[in-house]
Amino acid sequence: MSTSCDALVFFGATGDLAYKKIFPSLQRLIRRGLLNVPIIGVARAGWNLEQFQARARDSLANHGGGVDEAAFSKMCSLLRYVDGDYQDPNTFQMLRSELGSAKAPVHYLAIPPSLFATVANHLHQSGCNQGARIVVEKPFGRNYETAVALNQTLHSVFEEGAIYRIDHYLGKEAVLNLLFFRFANSIFEPIWNRNYIRSVQITMAEKFGVEGRGRFYEEAGAIRDVIQNHLLQVVAILAMEPPGSGAPDGLRDEKAKVLEAIRPLTPNEVVRGQFRGYRAEAGVAPDSQVETFAAVRLYIDSWRWGGVPFYIRAGKSLPLTCTEVLIEFYRPPQKMFGTFELVQTRNHLRLRLSPIELIALGTRVKKSGPKFVGEDVELTLMQNPAEDVEPYERLLGAAMEGDSTFFARQDTVESAWKIVDPILGNVTPVEEYAPGTWGPASAQRLLLEGERWHDPRELECS
Ligand code: BG6
Repeated sequence: MSTSCDALVFFGATGDLAYKKIFPSLQRLIRRGLLNVPIIGVARAGWNLEQFQARARDSLANHGGGVDEAAFSKMCSLLRYVDGDYQDPNTFQMLRSELGSAKAPVHYLAIPPSLFATVANHLHQSGCNQGARIVVEKPFGRNYETAVALNQTLHSVFEEGAIYRIDHYLGKEAVLNLLFFRFANSIFEPIWNRNYIRSVQITMAEKFGVEGRGRFYEEAGAIRDVIQNHLLQVVAILAMEPPGSGAPDGLRDEKAKVLEAIRPLTPNEVVRGQFRGYRAEAGVAPDSQVETFAAVRLYIDSWRWGGVPFYIRAGKSLPLTCTEVLIEFYRPPQKMFGTFELVQTRNHLRLRLSPIELIALGTRVKKSGPKFVGEDVELTLMQNPAEDVEPYERLLGAAMEGDSTFFARQDTVESAWKIVDPILGNVTPVEEYAPGTWGPASAQRLLLEGERWHDPRELECS
């Protein structure tokens, strides 16, 4: 399906996601001349169009980098508003008439997943699903079983090709560059496998805690919140074979094969932590067992990756905010220079995804001087301070164009749940850690002999 949409509908129009992400993305799309169709907000707030426009202005002022008056006046000319309950068929009749002659609307469900079925069914009954695409936000279920059920619900009204599941990591410039970098450079392909790569490590560290989202976080925890989705998508991109075709499914097929080949995790391969003070957050149970930190070691059973550990570590209240991939290569033979200094470190490739985008190669060179003494140098191949295009802007634009390449497909979502399902809940104890540290010390036990967790601050420019 690759027709451009002719109307954009978003449910949850008065909610938080719309306020923080959607309006700012709409302004950016308008500025770039990429949005010129009716934008219909749907919510039950008892509002009228003027109030809705005021909310949009407020959102741009607070989260959109300021109001661009020209873009805002264009946005106002496109905005429509339908006020009504999602349970009420009349709401969808009003929507149907706002859609007018639109033949390819995009419906963005910026609402809790518990309402997906209701809205999808009403879209169907009112005929608003005709020729339409639907955009949904995570969480896509709470485990494998609920993800399958959710997919069945969506499929009862929309074909898989018309369902766009947003994982905002797939809209990040640095994640797209991971993919580009891998396949745009022939020098890495011969060494991109178990013969040269000793381990792959992904760190997603956040210095902040749960920032008032305690109630949400109690239902999630680090594994559901970021490992099952964002970080396994990153693993898939790092480990996939080159796609056979440029079509959206060429890429998604290869990612799906990686996720299928990952062995489901066992309790021995996870360490869960909770930062001290989490239980005092609003909305958090005083005896909560939910993890704010998780470290896992996983393996991909494929010809390319057999035996290579992939370490993932993600957490809140860690020493800094930074997400990066570190690929470590094997050492050269140690006795090459007889009695001269041996190589202590390994070559690595660092792929930093945030807060800046950076690619660097860690090598070892001779220190200038009379002796054969080595030193480590890191060569920065590229560095970009910030994203030009925000993930939501990119993904919303792609959904409107009918390009599903960077959306999560049903099979990858379900495979990712199969990987983490055995470690969800309290199958392992949650260990307390002090805020500002790297989580429980026992995360060390996941590493194979001679390995260490890397601290992104090792890089001088951090
Ligand atoms: C979200 C999680 O999906 O991703 C948050 O719910 C997390 O807990 C966020 O902080 C991180 O995204 P980014 O783009 O800021 O790295």
